[in-house]
Amino acid sequence: MRRWFGSCGMALAIGMLGGGAATAADAPTYHREVVRILQKHCQDCHRPGQVAPFSLLNYDQARKRATDLAAVTADRKMPPWHASNDEGGPFRDARVLSQEEIATLGRWAEAGCPEGTSTDAPAPRTWDSDWSLGTPDLVLKASEAYSLAAEGRDEFRVFVLPTGLTEGKWVAAVDFLPGNPKIVHHVLAAFDVRGAAKKLDEADPESGYKAFGGFGVVPSGGLGGWSPGKVARPLPNGVGRYLPAGADVLLQVHYHRSGKVESDQTSIGLYFAKDKVDKQVRGGMVIPPASGLFRRPALLIPAGDANYEITGTKTIDEDSHLFAVTPHMHWLGKDFLMKAIRPDGSTVTLIRIDQWDFNWQGGYDFMAPVPLPKGTRIEMKAHFNNSAENPANPNSPPVAVHWGEQTTDEMCIGFLQMTVDDEHRENQPPPRFAAPPVERLKAAARPE
Ligand code: HEC
Repeated sequence: MRRWFGSCGMALAIGMLGGGAATAADAPTYHREVVRILQKHCQDCHRPGQVAPFSLLNYDQARKRATDLAAVTADRKMPPWHASNDEGGPFRDARVLSQEEIATLGRWAEAGCPEGTSTDAPAPRTWDSDWSLGTPDLVLKASEAYSLAAEGRDEFRVFVLPTGLTEGKWVAAVDFLPGNPKIVHHVLAAFDVRGAAKKLDEADPESGYKAFGGFGVVPSGGLGGWSPGKVARPLPNGVGRYLPAGADVLLQVHYHRSGKVESDQTSIGLYFAKDKVDKQVRGGMVIPPASGLFRRPALLIPAGDANYEITGTKTIDEDSHLFAVTPHMHWLGKDFLMKAIRPDGSTVTLIRIDQWDFNWQGGYDFMAPVPLPKGTRIEMKAHFNNSAENPANPNSPPVAVHWGEQTTDEMCIGFLQMTVDDEHRENQPPPRFAAPPVERLKAAARPE
């Protein structure tokens, strides 16, 4: 289907015979139009050392795949971005091509990929191989590289990184440097002040420990995450995440295997707030209602059900602003929708994902924080496809699936990142971290 354009030369020949297609004279050229689209939307991933399997940095690389570039952009398969453009958002750094850009790539392929003159071209893009926000105040990574076997399922591994902080800090920005972009699919960060993750780490002979989806422990707080193409952004002004003294940073790395034994040592960089922090990041979760002895969300997806619906709601109990959302499901996820219904009856769609893709989940930051007055009801509605027709289904034949953290279990969570309007911290630690246990402070102060 995506090869219907045929090769560039053939398209050119057909175009000339037909007479109706763009002629070389008015067609877009590589140096004038196409390179600008590739620089803006593709090269973050399509260059050496990044996640995409080939580069799109010069004319030859683009010409060879011209028909594919036209097809995958017309299908909106590339760049990978799953939030709907019609409803929800608008989001920062949305990876979305305009209709005009898509049409340009199509016309360029059809016209036989004219190169044009290089004097029309913008300067090539350059990338800092290092941190995009400058040198972080604290860089942490595992003490030794982790060696990932060649074959098998994806692996989720949590690395426990002691901060050694002797006083609490407000974190204003977080960035990540994947050690080996060939295998690092995405990274989630959190922190633990109870030493629970350290125990799991000690029990596992290799660097870090295995987990799925989560951290294997309930973290004391979140620190954001990284997925391919994500640009590090500081939190809104005056907003921070409090990192208590003696905390361990937890880095959950989702590894894709490459078919060879690979090693990785991913780093996290923390930037501490320079200005006053008045509000802390408040996390929230919209989940399906809990039931039963273990108060687990009532999720049981029958084998073969291609459209199993699940809903959840959450009521906001203080005037708040929502600045980011992160939908989370596993392999059976099909679509995801989250709306806010305000007390005055007005409804806004926060995010709509029509085709869930486990491989491309990530956080979505609103261009402008969304006001959620007290009493706003957040409603989540999602569907799962547990049929044999779902190519991502980990079970063949399908089996009934319930709520849980394993690859073969399912989840449906709408993570919310908010601030509370009348919080005024003036740099004071949040109450729950105001008095950390003396023991932990002492331990953190001890030299290695
Ligand atoms: C966020 C990273 C990212 C961005 C941005 C991105 N790609 Fe990709 N691209 C990938 C990855 C990874 C693959 C490999 C297949 C996959 O995982 O979906 C891929 C695969 C492709 C393929 C092969 C598709 C196939 O089905 O074999 C084409 C063609 C492509 N990209 C074109 C583009 C174009 C054109 C752009 C910009 C308009 C772009 N990509 C932007 C990551 C990206």
